[in-house]
Amino acid sequence: MSRIVGIDLGTSTSEIACIVNGTPKLIPNTQGKLITPSVVHIREDGSVLVGEEAAEYLFTRPDCTFMEVKRLTGSSEALHAHNKDYAPEDIQAMLLRYLVACAESFLNEKIERAVITVPAYFTDAQRRATAKAGELAGLQVERILNEPTAAALDYGLSNLKECTNVLVYDLGGGTLDVTVLEMFEGVIDVKASCGNNQLGGKDFDEIVMRNLAEAGTDERALMRLKKAAEECKIRLSDHDEHQVSLPFLLTDNDGKPVSIEKTVTRTEFEQWVEEKVASTKEPMMSALSDAKFTPQDLNVILLVGGSTRIPCVKKLVAESLSATPHSLVDPDLTVARGAAIQAGLLEGSLNNADLVLTDVCPYTLGTSVLHNGFLERRLVFDPLIPRNTTIPTEKSKIYIPSSDYQTSVRIDVYQGDSTNPDNNERLGDVLLTGIPPAKVGEESIEISFSYDMNGILQVKGSIVSTGKQVSAEISTTGVKAKPVFDLTKWEKADGARQFRPLVRKAEKQIEAGNDKTGEIAILVRQLKEALLLKNKSQVENLREELLEALDAFESLGFFK
Ligand SMILES: Nc1ncnc2c1ncn2[C@@H]1O[C@H](COP(=O)(O)OP(=O)(O)OP(=O)(O)O)[C@@H](O)[C@H]1O
Ligand SMILES: [Mg+2]
Repeated sequence: MSRIVGIDLGTSTSEIACIVNGTPKLIPNTQGKLITPSVVHIREDGSVLVGEEAAEYLFTRPDCTFMEVKRLTGSSEALHAHNKDYAPEDIQAMLLRYLVACAESFLNEKIERAVITVPAYFTDAQRRATAKAGELAGLQVERILNEPTAAALDYGLSNLKECTNVLVYDLGGGTLDVTVLEMFEGVIDVKASCGNNQLGGKDFDEIVMRNLAEAGTDERALMRLKKAAEECKIRLSDHDEHQVSLPFLLTDNDGKPVSIEKTVTRTEFEQWVEEKVASTKEPMMSALSDAKFTPQDLNVILLVGGSTRIPCVKKLVAESLSATPHSLVDPDLTVARGAAIQAGLLEGSLNNADLVLTDVCPYTLGTSVLHNGFLERRLVFDPLIPRNTTIPTEKSKIYIPSSDYQTSVRIDVYQGDSTNPDNNERLGDVLLTGIPPAKVGEESIEISFSYDMNGILQVKGSIVSTGKQVSAEISTTGVKAKPVFDLTKWEKADGARQFRPLVRKAEKQIEAGNDKTGEIAILVRQLKEALLLKNKSQVENLREELLEALDAFESLGFFK
């Protein structure tokens, strides 16, 4: 079996590492550097340049030079160069192929297997697209690993014996990931992940650009402006001010040259990005509460990703968690090191191999069911895998077709936390046909969702009476993450207080296993959501429906 490499395929930069003599080692690229810019330039003849060499063409040939392609992962957006279309995975594959070629020449052996990291908050479709890029690059993708988990593995390897609660805050070029985990005696137990797939250093660059100049359409001028904006941002991480100087950036309508000369202070920069930086607090709090931790429970805060070098980002993390984060891992290299450690665990090449890893599914996944309410019939989202369930996991439930002589059901698959399916992200569907025609209640189907170690979802449906099965890997393109809708906060909603006794009563029935059809659970969740959304009329309807449903229980109990 050939060696497995670990690859951090980043929005701005990428790294590759592997296990050498039992420990993780970063592999230099053809320029002798450990960090490769995630830039690809395609020449007229179809040949490809990657990394720093490619980055030089960002200014002269922006039409066939690509950067920050990771943000398009899983979308169907086409990239054009020399009258040819490329999918985002095609460009990602070129990056991977280059990194692997660097490793092959460094190690002097053929590389065919890899662990590739993705943001923990990447969706199913984005994970599949990443795995596909690996295959296009000729690799067998052994594992898709969450980036913050990789950082935790790296930290964990040198702090094996300690029992520690860790929060990883990873703000890179394009994505934010927050992961909370517990480490004890070599076990790394991921409790919860939360984040934003569309927030990172590139957004700060864009804000600086907008403050430096009116957006033009000249692609070369934009590239120069973007580069100057990023330089300015980076410089302000350890200086109080920075002079931006862009002579002859554009020509105006009269053909006169326009130059930019501007001094930007750190204070100004901090004001510009304040809102974006502050928006990272919510995912931190959400991950903590999902993990059932308070900030005081945390022993270690790991800062990962280049954007955590920004002082006001560090300050926000410190203030939100009332603790000082430590620079205990290398923010640029730790994810690739962690990927190599995962590779080492798979191939058994690690010196200190007593490391066990568990991870979670960061999203709630489920289907939609027709709910025959007392007042109305409506579709409701029914979760099968609640968010932050430890993976791999498989959950199944029995459902009943909703009308007489129905011979097929469409199993819709959603990701999200709202009881209303329309507010969640639709991932796709699976059609189950061939149900023997019968009256409602005589036939039933079993739906099962399984979520593997790579974070990839498989949906199965089977007819209980005949055993007929259908299954599909759910894949869609362009799925975006939705903000987490946290039902656990319902008690804080206006007017929620008076509903506590009712909800408690209902939850007791559920806990006692009396809610056979799942009806009470659905009503409780809908009620909590309606309270949070301040939907008064729905709250009233749901209260009545819930009372009615509970009454039915009590009368059943009475006759037993
Ligand atoms: N000293 C610094 N101050 C501020 N920002 C910085 C600094 N150094 C790097 N950055 C920013 O960090 C980002 C790159 O970080 P990193 O390489 O960790 O991201 P990535 O892994 O490519 O992205 P992602 O993990 O989101 O896919 C860029 O936006 C870069 O401008
Ligand atoms: Mg990264």
